[in-house]
Amino acid sequence: MKKEQRNWAEISTRENSLEYILPNRDYNKFWEEGVEQAIVLERFIKPEFTVLEYGCGVGRILTNIKCKKKYGVDIAKSYLDRIEDEDIIPLQTKQQSIEIKNETVDFIYSIMVFQHIPMEYHKAIFSELMRILKPNGVIYIQFPIKTDKFFSYYKDTDFVNTYSIGDIYEIIHGHTFSEFEIEKGNLVAYGDNGSFKPEEDLEYFLKITK
Ligand SMILES: C[S@@+](CC[C@H](N)C(=O)[O-])C[C@H]1O[C@@H](n2cnc3c(N)ncnc32)[C@H](O)[C@@H]1O
Repeated sequence: MKKEQRNWAEISTRENSLEYILPNRDYNKFWEEGVEQAIVLERFIKPEFTVLEYGCGVGRILTNIKCKKKYGVDIAKSYLDRIEDEDIIPLQTKQQSIEIKNETVDFIYSIMVFQHIPMEYHKAIFSELMRILKPNGVIYIQFPIKTDKFFSYYKDTDFVNTYSIGDIYEIIHGHTFSEFEIEKGNLVAYGDNGSFKPEEDLEYFLKITK
């Protein structure tokens, strides 16, 4: 694994750093898709909630989430520095730890993030998210589906991981939950300026209630 190719602290300082968050989008489309992605998450959120996005980047999605308190967690300070929504509390991750007290967050989501982190760190990150999640709180994480089709949208590369159901079980193994579900589905759009709507499901969405 070439970890230097996943060096987000450095990527986030590049002139084209938004390209790594969502490739081939013009500026307006970049933000519009953030609105659409936030609408998909609304079903999990109540106004009185504390919500945390793990790997929030510049706040493309989190800016559009309406709730009492919002934490934007990311490894890349240069992305966090670009967040304009003053309601977002930016937090830079230190190794796998997040400086938030135990059981204080109602809803945690992570979209297009785990796929860019070496697999060996996933379990530690998931444990940290479970630590800060309130009892009955929900964690929702997207993972690209592993496929052996030759013409597939996702392929395992040095920059992107794909996942089997077994890979996801491995991440959550050892934790107890009140509810657990893995849905299949899609992000709001793909491809050139978000124009590609896949005919098959490309993602797993892990949904866990503590
Ligand atoms: C493809 S971007 C997605 C950003 C955001 N979720 C969105 O959809 O707009 C991946 C994000 O994950 C962050 N990231 C990568 N590795 C991380 C880690 N180990 N911990 C926290 N964030 C990480 C990157 O800095 C980047 O902001």
